[in-house]
Amino acid sequence: MDQIGPIELNPGSQTPLYQQLFDVIASLIGKGALADGHRLPPTRALAERLGAHRNTVVRAYRELEEAGFVVSTVGRGTFVQRPEGGVQLPAATADGAPAASGIAWGSLMSRASGAEPLRRAERFAREVPARVAIHLSRMQPSDDLLPDQLFRRCLDHVLATCGPKALGYAPRAGVARLREQVAADLVHQGVSTTPEDVLITSGSQQALDLLARVLVNPGDALIVNTATFTGALSAFTAAGARLVTVPSDDEGPDLSALERVSRVGAKALYLMPGCQNPTGHSISVQRRKGIVEWSRRSGVPIIEDDYLSDLHLDGEAPPPLRGFDGDVIYVGTYSKKLIPTLRVGYVVAPRVLRQRLEPLKQASDLGNALMQYALAEFLERGYLRAHLARTIPEYRKRRDALEQSLRAHLPEGIDFRRPSSGLILWVPLPEGVDPHAVFEAARDEGVLVMPSTMNRAGDVLEAGIRLTFCAESAERLADGAERFARALTRVLGAHPGESRQLDAAEVI
Ligand SMILES: Cc1ncc(COP(=O)(O)O)c(C=O)c1O
Repeated sequence: MDQIGPIELNPGSQTPLYQQLFDVIASLIGKGALADGHRLPPTRALAERLGAHRNTVVRAYRELEEAGFVVSTVGRGTFVQRPEGGVQLPAATADGAPAASGIAWGSLMSRASGAEPLRRAERFAREVPARVAIHLSRMQPSDDLLPDQLFRRCLDHVLATCGPKALGYAPRAGVARLREQVAADLVHQGVSTTPEDVLITSGSQQALDLLARVLVNPGDALIVNTATFTGALSAFTAAGARLVTVPSDDEGPDLSALERVSRVGAKALYLMPGCQNPTGHSISVQRRKGIVEWSRRSGVPIIEDDYLSDLHLDGEAPPPLRGFDGDVIYVGTYSKKLIPTLRVGYVVAPRVLRQRLEPLKQASDLGNALMQYALAEFLERGYLRAHLARTIPEYRKRRDALEQSLRAHLPEGIDFRRPSSGLILWVPLPEGVDPHAVFEAARDEGVLVMPSTMNRAGDVLEAGIRLTFCAESAERLADGAERFARALTRVLGAHPGESRQLDAAEVI
């Protein structure tokens, strides 16, 4: 009995006493503090010791038995039960690791797994300090903008109403209720969609990975912007794609450049029309139409990554490309507008493509039904609308704070465009200034920013720094912008002559 040690139950807690007792004993057994076969105290004795009703102990023991922690034998008592079996481990080395047989791993790796963008991302991750004063690089909502309490209610409701059904694998294409919500949202944006068109993925990152694998044979061309999303670079090159780049102007990708690359036999053109990562560009309606016409003429499909949908800050959002053409592959996510850890994204694609995507998705993971049910509940209750009504004004406030502080502190000759959509602000750098040097100088000032060296897709470097305004409060953004400006001034000082007035065409 003493092995159980002192137990304090809290009658004031919302957790019933029998559950508190269950938790204490289960944890002792789980940690190995109660040996296999150990006899638990008789219910009456333990109840007296705890000053609790005997039924409390009886119920805790019964639930421990149902959960497999103990076995009760009438007349003998209740005994700790550990799982049977266990494996005999081979001899370990001095530091406790199992001995290795010396396989030549280097010669076994695929070339694609060592693609440059993947190694670049690894190197960069090592350069990011564990603790950063101010985050102008992270693209996820700050803690105060994550709806933990609303989401908890949905999770509780799902567990209470669906029970174990919510704890299994998800259906192949995703939970039906969620696919219905996604389709309804797209219809609301003017994109004709049925739930059957929607494949739920583990974030839009998985959608990009699956699309690359379904379309690309090693060496096949994919067209991307000269500066593009690092995760897309990684997914595409890991699939063995050869990246062909097109530059952009104020309205979006250059149509004559697209004409020129039509002949490379590309498998797709990857775009983020709402808010190009990292430059923050939004593609004009006129250019959207031009791109769709180009796609029809050239036979190259478009992958539209609408990762920041619903996060339009000023004016009307232009319709998605998918609204113009049913062959556009549309990728969406709930990571940025709601909760990153949901890991819920989706693809809306023509049927023939979905038929290939679905088995690939199964081969990759089997889906998280609980998160999908909880998100469906969240959307059905209309919580997303309320959440956006709270967050969008806050993002506007943060953008304005960042903008004002940059305008007050950036060195002469550096300009930027105020973003009207999304969560990023792009600061173009003068020719010859290394974005990575600016990243390092900013890090020394306690600010983390994203250098466009990370986004480079081909030979041309679109030099700039991406700043986000979602992960920090308005006050910290203002402070971060001042520090960033100080760092940039220092780097430009080390490159005299490079800080010159930009002409209008360079200021994007
Ligand atoms: C352009 C873009 N697409 C897709 C993603 C992936 O997001 P998730 O996998 O969380 O949906 C990101 C994440 O930053 C992104 O910036």
